[in-house]
Amino acid sequence: MCGIVGYIGTKKAYPILIKGLKRLEYRGYDSAGVAMISDCGELNVYKTKGKVDNLTDYCSDKDVTGCVGIAHTRWATHGEPSARNAHPHYSRSQNLAIIHNGIIENYADIKMQLQTKGVEFKSDTDTEVLVQFVEYIMVKKNLPLLEAVQVALHQVIGAYAIAIVDKREPRQIIAARKQSPLVVGIGQDEFFLGSDASPIIDYTDKVVYLDDGNIAVIRLGEELKVLSILGKEQQLKVSTVDLNLGQIEKGGYEHFMLKEIFEQPECLKNCMRGRINVEGNHVTLSAIIDHRRQLLGAKRIVIVACGTSWHAGLIAGQLFESLCHIPCEVEYASEFRYRNPVVTKDDVVIAISQSGETADTLAAIQLAKQKGAFIYGICNAIGSSIPRATDTGTYIHVGPEIGVASTKAFTGQLTVLTMLALCLASERKTISEELYRQMVRELTLIPAKMEQALKTNEQIALLAPIFTYARNCLYLGRGYNYPLALEGALKLKEISYIHAEGYPAAEMKHGPIALIDSEMPVFVIATRDRLYEKVISNIQEVRARGGRITAIVTEGDTQIQRFADHIITLPDTLECFQPLIASIPLQLLAYHIAVCKGKDVDRPRNLAKSVTVE
Ligand code: M6R
Repeated sequence: MCGIVGYIGTKKAYPILIKGLKRLEYRGYDSAGVAMISDCGELNVYKTKGKVDNLTDYCSDKDVTGCVGIAHTRWATHGEPSARNAHPHYSRSQNLAIIHNGIIENYADIKMQLQTKGVEFKSDTDTEVLVQFVEYIMVKKNLPLLEAVQVALHQVIGAYAIAIVDKREPRQIIAARKQSPLVVGIGQDEFFLGSDASPIIDYTDKVVYLDDGNIAVIRLGEELKVLSILGKEQQLKVSTVDLNLGQIEKGGYEHFMLKEIFEQPECLKNCMRGRINVEGNHVTLSAIIDHRRQLLGAKRIVIVACGTSWHAGLIAGQLFESLCHIPCEVEYASEFRYRNPVVTKDDVVIAISQSGETADTLAAIQLAKQKGAFIYGICNAIGSSIPRATDTGTYIHVGPEIGVASTKAFTGQLTVLTMLALCLASERKTISEELYRQMVRELTLIPAKMEQALKTNEQIALLAPIFTYARNCLYLGRGYNYPLALEGALKLKEISYIHAEGYPAAEMKHGPIALIDSEMPVFVIATRDRLYEKVISNIQEVRARGGRITAIVTEGDTQIQRFADHIITLPDTLECFQPLIASIPLQLLAYHIAVCKGKDVDRPRNLAKSVTVE
């Protein structure tokens, strides 16, 4: 949830840290701070409430010299968002400073013990407890920083990615991870730290993704050393990052979200490349070749995910049942992890996550693993924790998603899940050869149809102001379009702060219809499919109660315009692919409504891109 950056080398640290923080602001943006060991050997900590720009304003007249530093952008867990609770946190002597992403669960116990020894605290955070604890151990046991961190982490319960500097050892940063991501970049006579590789890629493409329980000893003039908490040296696994600057910049768009919406046709081509053959009639996924027995033998599929990824799972669940004849349950990872679910070794658990770091999804994976299930990950962020915790998986390859509202990851996830369902169905012989070929062929046509759908942008931008007055909105859909209604509502909620609900259209009459009046915009996904006529009846029910209807329809539709106030027309496709196309106007609607309301589209309040805490 928080973003971590670090630098040690021969360059000035401050500009590198600030640029890195801006890249990581998507992970949290309620406060930010830096700690640098200055040219005079002082350990200076500067922090402010709000976004990184506030921090740079604040630092404009401060001493920001030095070639060693750590920096942080925060999403509050313990303690309100404020400069006081922002990271870095000093230890009592101000010799140490720490930044932290995660939660120290037993911080209250440790804090109490330290308070009885006279330690005073300046913030409400669990993070300050950790740095005070490290310092206490250093003094009490007369240990250098590295050893004291090892002792402290041994006693800490929780999740963390941390970086600590000590002004008495100015050529060193100690970093550690457990269940929160941390990457070390290796340059020429310099090292970088990041929660992901985005703050690092301007300088080097050589990185080490730390594993859980790793401590990195980063010392100027020495090789990077990675140890276990017990001090055992680990083998260095240096990877090459395949990420370019264009992918993480706005490229002329006003917001990342808009850029990411428009990237979708290209993203889906990348997602299918090498998986669907050039003739466009056959799908192969390496995971299925490598793990044939476990995947084809699945008696049941359980999908675990959160938020938008869960919505993609709901659509996929219908595909696995109808195409592969495999029973499928789709679970919120946060609920699944705290039940005692029946999971057996004959189950395949599919974990879906854009970031690959969602704490609840990771915990659900661990639980399913303990119960003997085979785990398949569908993720976007390469090298993140979930792909490393699963037995196999498929990357969606849609490139970094920076906007907090997930857009291209959703359609990328749906594409991978569809390819997976097609592969399984074909191998299990539960799909006719004709339907299989038709579906594969149609999937390859989706990027072009998305291009067409993107042409609704102008129409939607003009419509959006009408909805800015709304306090509540309803999204309706049926079949494959029902989870899409949920997704459309989530998009609107999170970036425009308008309350919105997604509903299966036929459920309206069991309660929500009471809400309908002329002030309630109702968005209906009414594309042409098996349930088309039924959806028309549902539209009429809303119409009869004075509801204001905006319908998303298939080109050539002549019926719905008689009942709807506004029509958005999309190209035709197979029923199960409609969410891929219809997600575009829903994303654009949410985007333009939020822009009209003057909201911070890419960084909506209270949210963070990657939810690495429970
Ligand atoms: O990275 P993940 O896909 O695991 O994230 C799951 C949710 O936090 C995420 O989809 C969230 O709901 C988005 N902000 C929705 O736009």
